[in-house]
Order: sequence, then C-alpha cells, then structure tokens
Amino acid sequence: MKPDTLADGVFRVAAKIGNRDLFEGIWPIPDGVMLNSYVVKGSEKRVLIDLVKDWDGALAAVNKQLDDLAVGPGNLDYIVINHMEPDHTGAMARIVAAYPEVEILCSAKAVPLIKHFYKIEKNVRAVADGEKLDLGGKTLQFFMTPNIHWPETMMTYLEEDQILFSCDAFGSFGRYESCFDDELTEEEKTKLFSETERYYANIVSSFSSFVTRGIAKLALLGIRMVAPSHGVVWRKEPEKIINWYGTLATYMNGPREKEVAVVWSSMYGNTEALLSSIVKGLESEGVPVHVLQVPQTHESFVLEKVWRSEGLVIGMPTYEYKMFPPMYHVLDILERSHVQGRKTLRFGSFGWSGGAQKQFDEFSTAMKLDCKGVIEYQGSPTEEDKKKAYELAKAMAKEIKG
Ligand code: FEO
Repeated sequence: MKPDTLADGVFRVAAKIGNRDLFEGIWPIPDGVMLNSYVVKGSEKRVLIDLVKDWDGALAAVNKQLDDLAVGPGNLDYIVINHMEPDHTGAMARIVAAYPEVEILCSAKAVPLIKHFYKIEKNVRAVADGEKLDLGGKTLQFFMTPNIHWPETMMTYLEEDQILFSCDAFGSFGRYESCFDDELTEEEKTKLFSETERYYANIVSSFSSFVTRGIAKLALLGIRMVAPSHGVVWRKEPEKIINWYGTLATYMNGPREKEVAVVWSSMYGNTEALLSSIVKGLESEGVPVHVLQVPQTHESFVLEKVWRSEGLVIGMPTYEYKMFPPMYHVLDILERSHVQGRKTLRFGSFGWSGGAQKQFDEFSTAMKLDCKGVIEYQGSPTEEDKKKAYELAKAMAKEIKG
C-alpha cells in the first residue's frame, strides 16, 4: 500500500488485515479489518499517531510507508498513543527500538500500561486534557475520552486542518480499497453499513454512555475529517459517522429501531416447531424481523441485530435442567454488552423436566427485559401453543410499532 494524503503534510499509513484471525480473539472478521496509523509533518516536528501490531504483515507495510514519507529512524519526534489495546501497540517495542530518541505521548492512564505491556519507561510523557503540541505550522490538541472504549483512551485533533484522529471511536470492521468515504464503491458502502454496526455492537456498545459524553465534548470542535484507526477516513461526511455513533449509543437505553431479533436454537425440532408462528405474528404487523439461529450464527452477528432492535425473542429448549448451553453463552454476551430493556418473548420445549425458564428469568432480571410472555411446552407444541405464540408475537410487534 501507499500512504494516503489527507491534507498537506498529513498522511494515513495503513495495513489491510485478512480474515484468518478473530478480532480481540473473539469476533469474526470475514471481510478483514483496516489498521490505520497517521503521520503529521510540521515544519519543525514530525508525529506518528497510533501504531500497529505485527499482524498479517502490518508492521512491514507501515514501515514501508513511513520510508516512503521519509519518516524513518532519526526523522520522527513523537509517537502519540491514543489507545493501548495491542492491535494499536503490539509492535511498540520494536518500533521504539528503531526510534530510540522518540518521545511517546499518551494519557496518564496509559503510562503504566506501556510499562507493564512493553517494559518502556524512557521518554514516555502523559499529556493533559486540552494540552496542545506545536509542530511548526501544525498544532495537535489532545482530548481525554475515557472508556471509548477503555479507560485510557484519548483522541488527537489537528487544529489547522480540523482532523480528528479518533482511534477506535468512529471505526468499522472491513477492508476497503479506498481511504475515503467518498471513494467507496456501492458494494463497499453496503459493507461499511453492516460492518460499522457490528463493530459498534461488538466492541463499543458496553461503553455507550461514554460515547454520548465524548460526542458532546467534541461538539465544540470544528471537525472537517474523522480519521479512525479502523475503517475509512470520513472526509465528505464526517458528521455522518459522528451522528451514527450517537444513534448507536442511544440503543442502550432507547429509543431503538422498530425491529425484532428472533434468536433461536433447537435440539430435535420441537422448539423450532413454534418459530414460524412467532415470525408470522411479528410480520403480520409489518415489523422487520431478524431471524438468527444459534449456535449456527456467531454471537457477533446476533449482537449486531439485537443491539439495534426494540424487540427480542429468545427460543431455546431445556438442556440438563438448564438453558440450552449455546443460548446461555449468547445471553451472557448480550448481558455483558449492556443489552437491556428490550420487549421480550421467550419460547421453548422441554422433555423430562423444565429448568430453562428459571435460568432465563435470572438473565431477564439482570438485563431488565420487559417480558411480554412465555410459551413453554413439554415435547412438541400443540395448536393452542402455536395460536398463543402468534397472538403474543403480534401484540408485541404492535406495541413496538407504536
Ligand atoms: Fe482497535 Fe480497542 O483497539
């Protein structure tokens, strides 16, 4: 890859990561992910903002682009670390070894992390909220944005060009041929939509209240470009990604989309036997329905659809006196991600004894679900069960529609 020019003296140096690995060791990335770092050259000082880990050739790719920009060893004054997660710092020890005199600028909370992760203490300096750094004709300003998405996170703003280097915030999964939002193909735009929502739901959703707070703090800045460390640079419509994240953050406490996610699993088909009655009841009110089978669908994609939807239907049988284990895992992920307050139905079969509902009730309480009904039956559902499922689903969809 070649460096991309954002403005005079401002460049993206990026690596395209393939789909072999899981992101954070848990989330599939079938379309890969971008790792974006940025170079800002003032007349006196040069800065590299955020790093990479040596993942799928990323370090070699970034080093090559730094050479292209003549920012090799001896030609770099600062490294800014907006966020310590190893996808942005994994290669820190090797990079710093190549630039022994470089000063590392980060938040106060990142200082001990740099020491413990990479054994680096020399030339590390914590910057204050609002502090400025003069590079000669280019001025960086640092803003603490804790918990977007870990406690030490900050963002860096380039005053003269009004570019916000936001690290994980305003990011997306997926690899893109072009650097900028206005250069994407129609196919890439479609991918960007789902890969932004899934990225947010998977790694940011828990921190939604901090996202809302962070966006309010940034509202005072003129932002001409948003340059995150994953995804594309928002040059044409920077307000679009900021507003979009604002909307995604509101899904935690509502309002949400008038849609329903039906998450179901079945062992021998007896729980599945009620599925069509539920879906028909929901669709009879014209509400969009996302049907997701577990464990066949990875929780990453389940969470994406559940996060945006006002309605949630959970279908699962009893297994050894408790919930069907794959659904327990999914509900654990949903609870950790702060999915809460959804209008909810639960259905499922049991054989020798029940037990799933009792365990589901604990999740329901913890997640403050607004439970609209339960259809649980021994063996296969009766016509009466199917009728009840249809009516409960229809009533819930009607309420969601408003
Ligand atoms: Fe892209 Fe939280 O690291």
